Amino acid sequence: MRITKITDKIYYIGVNDRRTALFENNWPIPYGVSLNSYLIKDEKNVLIDTVEFGSDNDYLNKIETILDGAPIHYLVVNHMEPDHSGMIKTVLNKYPNLKIIGNEQTFKLLNAYYNVIRENFISVKDGEEISIGATNLKFVYIPWVHWPETMVTYDTNNQVLFSCDAFGGYGSLDGGIFDNDYNFEEMFLPEMRRYYSNIVSKWSNMVVKALGKLADVPIKIIAPSHGVIWKDNPKKVLELYSNWSEFKPENDGVVIVYASMYGNTARLADKIGQKLSCAGIKNIRTYDVSKTHVSYILSDILKYKGFILGTCAYNTFMHPMMEHLCNEIKIMSPKNRVFGIFGTSGWNGAGVKSLLKFAEENKLTPITPIVEAIGDPTDEKIEESANSFVKAFYQELNNIK
Ligand SMILES: Cc1cc2nc3c(=O)[nH]c(=O)nc-3n(C[C@H](O)[C@H](O)[C@H](O)COP(=O)(O)O)c2cc1C
Ligand SMILES: [Fe+2]
Ligand SMILES: [Fe+2]
Repeated sequence: MRITKITDKIYYIGVNDRRTALFENNWPIPYGVSLNSYLIKDEKNVLIDTVEFGSDNDYLNKIETILDGAPIHYLVVNHMEPDHSGMIKTVLNKYPNLKIIGNEQTFKLLNAYYNVIRENFISVKDGEEISIGATNLKFVYIPWVHWPETMVTYDTNNQVLFSCDAFGGYGSLDGGIFDNDYNFEEMFLPEMRRYYSNIVSKWSNMVVKALGKLADVPIKIIAPSHGVIWKDNPKKVLELYSNWSEFKPENDGVVIVYASMYGNTARLADKIGQKLSCAGIKNIRTYDVSKTHVSYILSDILKYKGFILGTCAYNTFMHPMMEHLCNEIKIMSPKNRVFGIFGTSGWNGAGVKSLLKFAEENKLTPITPIVEAIGDPTDEKIEESANSFVKAFYQELNNIK
């Protein structure tokens, strides 16, 4: 049973999920994910979020061990997604007198998913505080990070922020639970960036608003619902989230992604990569979209300054795997990136046309000229346009900070 103290009164009672292959049945989690839940033992005992149903047979035992027969008085529901709300019914069955704390949006969802009635619920306003003994809990709405009801809970005395999905990441907690228990850059940064690009990025403007709301709050510890607890250096994760939400690229790299059935478009991708390398770009990552899961591609689009999409034409459209990526990019809504398009076709250039339509609909301006070939993209066919494209692309990379 994993019970670790975070402060005198706050206990970690989360669980590692290493069994699930795809988070939300969509995103690969080869390194697992932690579902973090917290218990505060004070005059009033408070549970901060639960874990996914069925993820932890020991969950109730942990609570019992800590409380030693005392009741839970409040269950704070920061977020209703089932990875955190899944054990609400089970907890309610065991502690029928507890009151659930949330906002009006939370109540609607609680009622719809778990049939929770008004009598069991305390509705808090944005910024409202409740005393639980030695400390107050303050509730701050951060809607759409990442559902409409989402809020964070702030322990005013210990200056601990229970931040929910914000400041979270993929990756199970395989040793300690704190940031300084790990070599963060190696063990968690890539998984955190991928989590942001997959789960949070769409709501980046809401993240900016949420960060603004928290700007003046003194924070000693950030305790998110996934990933490490920030005790040593919470400023670090605030900075990461601030940069990602503003789409500040981490370096001058370029991601090239192609869809290719028989190799023509793949060869064109390689030619463009080689020319970018000759121009001096050091970090070039090229993916076959039919093989690498979009989750990883989105993460690199968040990381690097440029991304270039290429497709073969396919039944008067782009290749379906590229269409899938484009759909995810649309959701992710990247900004402040240098963008390019290329493609090959047999007769009507349908793939590039589809990519151009996608770009226009999503306010992405492709660097011109577009590199395009009918059939085999031989040097004779593409040399001139590819050289001009790479020159313009390189220049634009230098213009973006
Ligand atoms: C199933 C299928 C559908 C295709 N549809 C189109 C099309 O709608 N328009 C077109 O110009 N070419 C079409 N083509 C031709 C390919 O787009 C062209 O050969 C392209 O260079 C293939 O690139 P790849 O080798 O990267 O797969 C199609 C080819 C296949 C096999
Ligand atoms: Fe969530
Ligand atoms: Fe979550």
